[in-house]
Amino acid sequence: MEPKQFKKVVILTGAGISAESGIPTFRDSGGLWENEPVEVVATPEGFVKHPERVIDFYNKRRQDALRCEPNAAHYALVKLEEKFGDNFLLITQNVDDLHQRAGSKRVLPMHGELLKVRCLGAAEHVIECKENQPEECPVCKAKMRPHIVWFGEIPFEMDRIYGELTSCDLFAYIGTSGAVYPAAGFRQVAKQAGAHVVCLNLEEISGGYTDEFIKGKAGEIVPKWVQTL
Ligand code: APR
Repeated sequence: MEPKQFKKVVILTGAGISAESGIPTFRDSGGLWENEPVEVVATPEGFVKHPERVIDFYNKRRQDALRCEPNAAHYALVKLEEKFGDNFLLITQNVDDLHQRAGSKRVLPMHGELLKVRCLGAAEHVIECKENQPEECPVCKAKMRPHIVWFGEIPFEMDRIYGELTSCDLFAYIGTSGAVYPAAGFRQVAKQAGAHVVCLNLEEISGGYTDEFIKGKAGEIVPKWVQTL
């Protein structure tokens, strides 16, 4: 039987796709949340109470991420984008820049980006940052914060995301535990809009709305899966 020719592909990635590149995930043993209290380093309240500790946490993650390289899974998604062009969107929960460094262009970093910082001034200037976060905004001198979506904040471009989820015919979620909304609800939106839903992950994710589960390490299973499309 000819493999179904999909017309529009939406991918969601999580920390598992960057694990083989050396970036720790959040909820695996030894993960980030095992060593850092989420409420202190990943909430607006934590930033108000302990700004220096939060800034240090992201400065360290930024330096760690810059020392890592994309892996075969990141490169496979670049090939998939080349195949589908404008009918492809890569939504990532990750804040590292490995998708971008691998060559992905149509990337939507819904939880923000480690390599950007944002000023607390009215204009909310977003500045590229490859070093430690600057003391003040180079444009308006206001204080700065990581350009990261913290718990309790709204992820970026949600309207655009729902528009894509409800008009794609293939949705795959890769390397994510499905622990955090709204991303955890994306597969239900896509499935109910008629998409074929595939999970590629080290462990099966409960909660339904999934047609196919491909088990394994992203660096191994994603290139093979992309070959079938
Ligand atoms: N290949 C494939 N999957 C893997 C690999 C790997 N090499 N290593 C780990 N995984 C899987 C784990 O089994 C787990 O299901 O990746 C998933 C990682 O889950 P989390 O650590 O919860 O990461 P993620 O789903 O991206 O977290 C979502 O939570 O803390 C917030 O904002 C943060 O974006 C993050 C969000």
